[in-house]
Amino acid sequence: MARARAWGRARSNRKGTFDPQDSKRVKHTRIGVWDLYEEINPDLENIPGSTRLEKLLEAYACLPYLLRMLKDILSIRSCWVMLVAYLAADFSNSLLPAASLWYSGQLISILQTAIDTRTVDKDLLFRICLGRIACSVGRRLLNYTRQELRLPLSRRLKQQYTVYLFHARARLDLPTFEDPMVQRQLEEASSTSGSIAWDTLTMASGIISTALQVVSQISVLAKVLGAHDDGLLLAVLSFASTWTDWMSRWNVLASGQVWAATTKDNDYIRMVGLKHVVNNVEHRKELIAGNLSEFVTEEFKQLSRKVGPDNAVDFVELRRASLNRERFGFLSLLQDPLRELPQIAFTLRAVQYPASMPVSLASLNLLQQTTSQFSYTLWRFIEQTGSITDQLAAVRKLYSVAHIPNRIPDGTVPFPEDAQKLRHGVALEFRNVSFRYPGSERYALRDVSFKLDAGQLCVIVGANGSGKSTILKLVARLYDVENGQILLDGHDIRTLRLHDLRQATSVLFQDYTHFPLSIRDNIALGDPAHFWDDEHVRRAARLGGAEEFIDRLPEGFDTYLERPVSDYFSGMPEGTKTLFGRPIDYSGVRGAGRMSAHSGPSLSGGQMQRLAVSRTFMRSVVSEDAKVGLLLFDEPSASLDPTAEHDLFARLRELRGNKTMVFSSHRFGNLTRHADLILYMNDSVIVEAGTHDELLKRQGEYARLWMLQAQAFL
Ligand SMILES: Nc1ncnc2c1ncn2[C@@H]1O[C@H](COP(=O)(O)OP(=O)(O)OP(=O)(O)O)[C@@H](O)[C@H]1O
Ligand SMILES: [Mg+2]
Repeated sequence: MARARAWGRARSNRKGTFDPQDSKRVKHTRIGVWDLYEEINPDLENIPGSTRLEKLLEAYACLPYLLRMLKDILSIRSCWVMLVAYLAADFSNSLLPAASLWYSGQLISILQTAIDTRTVDKDLLFRICLGRIACSVGRRLLNYTRQELRLPLSRRLKQQYTVYLFHARARLDLPTFEDPMVQRQLEEASSTSGSIAWDTLTMASGIISTALQVVSQISVLAKVLGAHDDGLLLAVLSFASTWTDWMSRWNVLASGQVWAATTKDNDYIRMVGLKHVVNNVEHRKELIAGNLSEFVTEEFKQLSRKVGPDNAVDFVELRRASLNRERFGFLSLLQDPLRELPQIAFTLRAVQYPASMPVSLASLNLLQQTTSQFSYTLWRFIEQTGSITDQLAAVRKLYSVAHIPNRIPDGTVPFPEDAQKLRHGVALEFRNVSFRYPGSERYALRDVSFKLDAGQLCVIVGANGSGKSTILKLVARLYDVENGQILLDGHDIRTLRLHDLRQATSVLFQDYTHFPLSIRDNIALGDPAHFWDDEHVRRAARLGGAEEFIDRLPEGFDTYLERPVSDYFSGMPEGTKTLFGRPIDYSGVRGAGRMSAHSGPSLSGGQMQRLAVSRTFMRSVVSEDAKVGLLLFDEPSASLDPTAEHDLFARLRELRGNKTMVFSSHRFGNLTRHADLILYMNDSVIVEAGTHDELLKRQGEYARLWMLQAQAFL
């Protein structure tokens, strides 16, 4: 018993687990309207300095990612030449301040000699001046080179990582992509995608060049201060101020790594909701027709007052503010006085022991200048290294998003074994399937079983929310079943290669969407293998009943349903007047640029649905070599007029025997009468199953609904 408890405890302490209920492991704080949950690392909590050490080790663990990034950057075409030039300019530039310092020293000692002895070595003076000028010109040129290389280099990096992130996003499956945590990770990696690489690069080169600066300045400093008794003291003091700065930085970095924040403040949530209502174009129809503008403004005003200016802020901003407050500790108070320390100490020493004063004011000045320059460079070095751990973590995050594990694991069995077999459709079977959507307690399907032979037609009917669409989504493996099995030609679909499974099926979703691409591309994406075949695209549009209206559009198949790139306009509001009374009117420039007056979709609901159907046909019917054996249609005719619906179903019925088809529908008759199998669903289960005649004979729910619909026409 005791052993079991000990084992249980050890298990709950397992590294990486995060249980929000456990107050020993999770610290809960409130920041404004937000609840912040931070993981406490109990193993390290009691050892002083261990979090800092962990942070360092973590930074060390990030180094392979840094190397990978460097390799990736160097593999970009024409990048490495620019990069080498950039780094060369950067590093050479870092040596120049020391040289300038040395020349300044020389100038001052010439001056000193001139005052003391009234003689000047003109030749030396000339060379020193020349050297000093060369240093400044050199600095300027090197800076210019760096600036010029900066833009093309950073753009190339940006392009590389934009493509990388595009793929990192594209490869995710639905449950993974839907997870808000994953969304956040992707957002973080992409908001600064190009710049993570660029920032890391500039930071690394910055650190190296500052290190070079420190070393070169130390050598000058050693020369200047070496002659002086207090040299060491001054060097130590100038280091002290930077040290405190460094410590306060690490304190911030060490605070919480695994954390999550949420808000349950209904006023704040409503406020953000109202903001969306007003900001997004898709809500505008309802806003106008519902006469809502005054009401929502008043509501927003009230809520805004209720939530308060300090709380109505998004989490990132609030957290930053609270971290800054934490950072403003005792050490940070010391920072500025410490920075003054070298000068004060030096003066005090000079007053106390006048004999130790430098022989001249000139060398005193030099001493001062060198010390302050050195301490500034040192401070910069510390500052740069302080944030490198964060930067390294960002690099690691960037490379990790490509490996976010998909929740739907791939299978290994190729499908179909024999391509010829697909020509007659595939057999589909559900065996005791139960399923709940991720995060949901309620079963969307409970113990669902049915069997469909190759080439058969199945229609699923039933009330809203009864589980019809869920059946179709599970066949496409958008989600995996919780219990039971789905079999295609006798194979559990989880064993099949995902790519093959999806190649063999074609789904028209109930909540289909159109891509913000041209109409042509929208249809053509149904079958990437024939994407460039215009003839195929046209035939698919014809079969889907879309060809006619597409041809009537001014830009035909090239019409964009929704322009993904927005136009830019000057900030002058239309309808107002300029200072000299000229009315502001954009129609001229818009006409010249052939810009559209609105950005929303310019098609009717039914036309949109015809396009979606066309895409399905592109995938499954148009080409001879289509590898699709199973067609899934979720309410394909919901927005179609009766003629279009009739034509669509007539066309689909022709496919019987060649493709297995599953429909979900609320309309009885046209389709159900021809179905080999009707499933009547209610509340997540199949209540009745059979053909139309069988179900009518049974006098059950299906029969009742059929009568209801038929009566409407009598
Ligand atoms: N993405 C989702 N996340 C959580 N629950 C969901 C999700 N989609 C659907 N559900 C729930 O699953 C149940 C079945 O939904 P489903 O979409 O399969 O119903 P349906 O029969 O297709 O309804 P309709 O006739 O309205 O299209 C419903 O209770 C619904 O609330
Ligand atoms: Mg549905």
